Amino acid sequence: MKRSILIHPDPRLKKVCDPVADLSDDLRILADDMLETMYDAPGIGLAAPQIGKSMRLIVMDCVREDEGTPNPIIMFNPEILSESEERNVYDEGCLSIPDQYAEVERPKLVKVGWIDRDGNPQEAEFDDLWATCVQHEIDHLNGVLFIDHLKPLKRQMITRKMVKLKKERARA
Ligand code: NI
Repeated sequence: MKRSILIHPDPRLKKVCDPVADLSDDLRILADDMLETMYDAPGIGLAAPQIGKSMRLIVMDCVREDEGTPNPIIMFNPEILSESEERNVYDEGCLSIPDQYAEVERPKLVKVGWIDRDGNPQEAEFDDLWATCVQHEIDHLNGVLFIDHLKPLKRQMITRKMVKLKKERARA
């Protein structure tokens, strides 16, 4: 089932999310719904707070449609275990900040630990776009948006556009 995605500014996007204590079927369904919502958007990552759930859960798939088999990843309680000194710049966007993009610099490579859909602990290294994506999504779990990495003026400009967009959508 598709869920609706919150648009910035929204206080629910600024909260530090709670860890997931017990993996239930409800949570698996929620994760599957998040993947469906992400693919439909379309996007390459989605975090639970973006659909109004304050829990540490993210989904992602950075394989482009024309590039090969989909590789959906569900992460409960993801944690960055280490990161490279080498950094990378990507033009980032966010499903909660539609049609706005800006360059953000982050570590090029990160090692991440998480609990998978079956409740098993996993660990893997991610680089380039995958690394940026997983860091962007984990940021969401801490109430941080990609625009929080930008200079205040740029951030305020984007936020004003989003306030306007939300007003227009509310009127429609
Ligand atoms: Ni995002």
